[in-house]
Amino acid sequence: MMKKIGILFGQENTFPQAFIDRVNEKGIKDIKAEAVSIDMVEQAKPTDYAVIIDRISQDVPFYRAYLKNAAISGTAVINNPFWWSADEKFFNNALAEKVGVPVPKTFILPTSHRPPDTNENSFRNMKFPFNWEQMFETIGFPAYMKPHDGGGWKSVYRVESPEDLWEKHAETENLVMMLQEEINFTEYFRCYVLNTDNVHIMQYEPRNPHHLRYVIDGPPVKKEILDLVRKYCVRLNKALGYDFNTVEFAVRDGIPYAIDFCNPAPDADINSVGQENFNWIVENAANMAIEKAQQFKKGKMNLTWGTFVKDQITGKKTPLK
Ligand SMILES: Nc1ncnc2c1ncn2[C@@H]1O[C@H](COP(=O)(O)OP(=O)(O)O)[C@@H](O)[C@H]1O
Ligand SMILES: [Mg+2]
Repeated sequence: MMKKIGILFGQENTFPQAFIDRVNEKGIKDIKAEAVSIDMVEQAKPTDYAVIIDRISQDVPFYRAYLKNAAISGTAVINNPFWWSADEKFFNNALAEKVGVPVPKTFILPTSHRPPDTNENSFRNMKFPFNWEQMFETIGFPAYMKPHDGGGWKSVYRVESPEDLWEKHAETENLVMMLQEEINFTEYFRCYVLNTDNVHIMQYEPRNPHHLRYVIDGPPVKKEILDLVRKYCVRLNKALGYDFNTVEFAVRDGIPYAIDFCNPAPDADINSVGQENFNWIVENAANMAIEKAQQFKKGKMNLTWGTFVKDQITGKKTPLK
């Protein structure tokens, strides 16, 4: 039986075609990759695809619904559209802490604006004033303030003082913001993690302009740090169940702190990641998709779920800290 691999994508121009070409070049019997093509979506009807790599549904709700419908009809959707619709950075930080991966201290803040169709009665469980003092004491300044389910550096603020925080918080309208300890780092890494355990570590300098952030020929890094980074990448992605993710770490005093690790469609553009990293992600994503297509079982759900969810269902008790 032919098993098709589809890729669903948006504005990116380099990764999707390179991925399709790489899968097809391998010439594996009964495996073929192509761009997903949609002209009608009916409930509970399967798609033609054994596997779909989703690069865009975070921005297109119609695709999100299409992918969940594809998943219940058997398509192995990468990443699991149910899970990443449910998770967000604050929860994932809590999970990281529970599975023993260091993360910056973090609080969540009520929104600056009231959500639509609410009034003051909707907030009678909130105690005023909010306990800002205790939070400031725990987090310190400067601190980071960023959306609990954001991405692409949108609305990420570095705040210097309580006054600065409140001023910027007022600009965030309906976003739920996190207040986070700043990690003053000596090294920073961004890591591709495929299939929950295939890790590619990239040195990254977020303080550089965009096109110079992926460091080429950076200074050598201690093996102990790289080993820890690798271990934490696997631990996080096993718990979350992401098949195609990037995980960022800021290293302070030899400890890698996970900063950003729920990226359902991580940057894979040759112009930002560079040739070598691009080759890695194209090759390894192609191999992963082929493997998933070969494992595909007709008439079954073929999604990846993290141990956090699986253990709740099987009653297995994950050792939580
Ligand atoms: N707690 C923190 N300590 C130090 N730097 C941070 C922290 N949080 C965010 N940053 C910086 O801000 C950038 C964007 O934040 P991030 O959490 O990655 O948001 P996004 O999901 O929008 O990329 C990071 O790459 C990092 O350089
Ligand atoms: Mg980031």
